[in-house]
Amino acid sequence: MAARLLLGTVIRDQIYAELQEEIAALGAAGIQPCLAAVLVGDNPASKLYVNSKIAACARLGLRSELHTPPASVSTEELLDLVTELNRRDEVDGILVQLPLPPQVEAKRILDAVDPAKDVDGFHPINVGRLVAGRPHLVACTPAGIMELLRRYEIPLAGTQAVVLGRSDIVGKPMALLLLHAHATVTICHSRTRQLPEVTRRADLVVAAMGRAALVTPDYIRPGATVIDVGQNVVTDAAEAERIFARVPDRLNAFREKGQVLVGDVHPDVAEVAGAITPVPGGVGPLTIALLMSNTVRAARLRRGATTAASARR
Ligand code: GUN
Repeated sequence: MAARLLLGTVIRDQIYAELQEEIAALGAAGIQPCLAAVLVGDNPASKLYVNSKIAACARLGLRSELHTPPASVSTEELLDLVTELNRRDEVDGILVQLPLPPQVEAKRILDAVDPAKDVDGFHPINVGRLVAGRPHLVACTPAGIMELLRRYEIPLAGTQAVVLGRSDIVGKPMALLLLHAHATVTICHSRTRQLPEVTRRADLVVAAMGRAALVTPDYIRPGATVIDVGQNVVTDAAEAERIFARVPDRLNAFREKGQVLVGDVHPDVAEVAGAITPVPGGVGPLTIALLMSNTVRAARLRRGATTAASARR
């Protein structure tokens, strides 16, 4: 039997409807949250992501501003920009899109962001708060996955969860959030031995290694929940034919466009899993939804506002 689809698009729309109430309440109190995005250089994928974030702000009635330093920017110049955004009281959220060019010391930039405006949840203070079980602003992708699991009523307490990938942006915060939800958490990575044996014990697998279709049906216990964080662009025809051998629609899309978006999970896993997030339309929309939620939250906390919607969360 095919797995139940866990649709990030549906959860995103729910989150936006709730945020709209909260934004209206803040507006009535004279507060319009503002997100400042910093996009360095002209990485096409980063441009696409940042434009989607700015568009989401417009959709919800949040203010946004886009700063676009050139790819040649120095660490010191970028630090000056972050310092200025920290100083400006009307800016509630600061987002520095990653990756940064190689000459920029990325850690110094992330450490410079005011933790109260750190809507990405990347500052060590916010990471520490998460580790300590006192989350404040949490990284958007794992926070979005938790919302998806909660709203689809996927049980976590007492279950075995396996996180594939140990990145600072997804794997590590994901593992901590699942731990706080009382799952028994295993983190796997490129050096893990006998990976399919480990993942086959899991009730929940979160795949975030950035390797197209790595997770095949033999990795998954029948009935398990599978969350696919991967956003891999496949341009090789043989690879696309192999991955989508049994999904003619996606294969046709590849033949038209010369590329196709592939998760870290092989499409055949849908035949084994109990529930699964699709790519696209699964985790992707939630990352931006939680960025919006973090921006509203940062505005509310920084300005000491309470709203009826915030009191429920
Ligand atoms: N690059 C890839 N994912 C992210 C993210 O969630 N936030 C930022 N700032 N950069 C990213």
